[in-house]
Amino acid sequence: MKKIYKSFKTSPKYSIKWNNYFEIYENLFKKFLKKKITIVEVGIGDGGSLFMWKNFFGKKAKIIGIELNPESKKLEKKGFKIFNGDQSSKDFWKSFYKKIGKIDILIDDGGHTNIQQITTLIESINYVKPGGMIIIEDTHTSFMKNKDFKNPSKYSFINFTSSLIEVIHRRNPNLKEELNFISKKINSIEYYDSITVINIAKKNLTKSKNLENNKKLRNFFDDYRFKRENNSNKTNNNRFLNYLKQTISKRSYLYRIYENNIIKKYLKLIKN
Ligand SMILES: C[S@@+](CC[C@H](N)C(=O)[O-])C[C@H]1O[C@@H](n2cnc3c(N)ncnc32)[C@H](O)[C@@H]1O
Repeated sequence: MKKIYKSFKTSPKYSIKWNNYFEIYENLFKKFLKKKITIVEVGIGDGGSLFMWKNFFGKKAKIIGIELNPESKKLEKKGFKIFNGDQSSKDFWKSFYKKIGKIDILIDDGGHTNIQQITTLIESINYVKPGGMIIIEDTHTSFMKNKDFKNPSKYSFINFTSSLIEVIHRRNPNLKEELNFISKKINSIEYYDSITVINIAKKNLTKSKNLENNKKLRNFFDDYRFKRENNSNKTNNNRFLNYLKQTISKRSYLYRIYENNIIKKYLKLIKN
């Protein structure tokens, strides 16, 4: 049995997690075990997961809970620090980090709405230590149509992360946009079923560099990507298509329409 699952099963209080989370967490958290770290969980319910984290990470780990329900303060008697507040409030996060300083791991298992997940992520990025992570649980809510979530929408958490992906790519010098706090801080984003992991870089990231080795040895390397097809490299049996491919530039919009139609079919295939 995975250690984290055992910690979940043996927790003295009620907790609720999806079954696929345990293996993900076991792998993600290896480097933090038995270390003097600070873990913050948003949304603590009955407190069962706080006991699970304590048991899993070890005695040196400091476990902090954030919860709207004031009853949760009772858990302070059990050695956890509890903050009552609203994760969708920018002011709450400001005063929270002012009090506790930088943290290692943030796990968001709060209300799971778009504004809650996005505020929690953005207001925390600057307060996670180098090499730390922010984990957003239950991201399937980005696709849930019911009255609580009203997704899928342009403003869903998952759609928001696609903008983060764009900003991370600004590190490539082929893109001219300036680096901002996101491009400098977020090293990578991992997606799982219902979990998104934001990995914070070990140091501030800068523009990437293109490296070449053995420059003098470059020989027959001639990039074929935009060359027109000729009779010897034709890729299918459709004579009309082959004629077009030999005539139209691969850089033209017409050729792009042809390619996009193929992509549309792949999109249909993966959404089935
Ligand atoms: C799914 S439960 C947490 C379960 C717990 N983490 C566990 O593993 O057992 C979600 C909790 O988030 C709290 N919550 C909902 N909206 C919140 C908000 N805006 N700020 C802080 N906590 C919130 C709820 O009161 C509830 O206790």
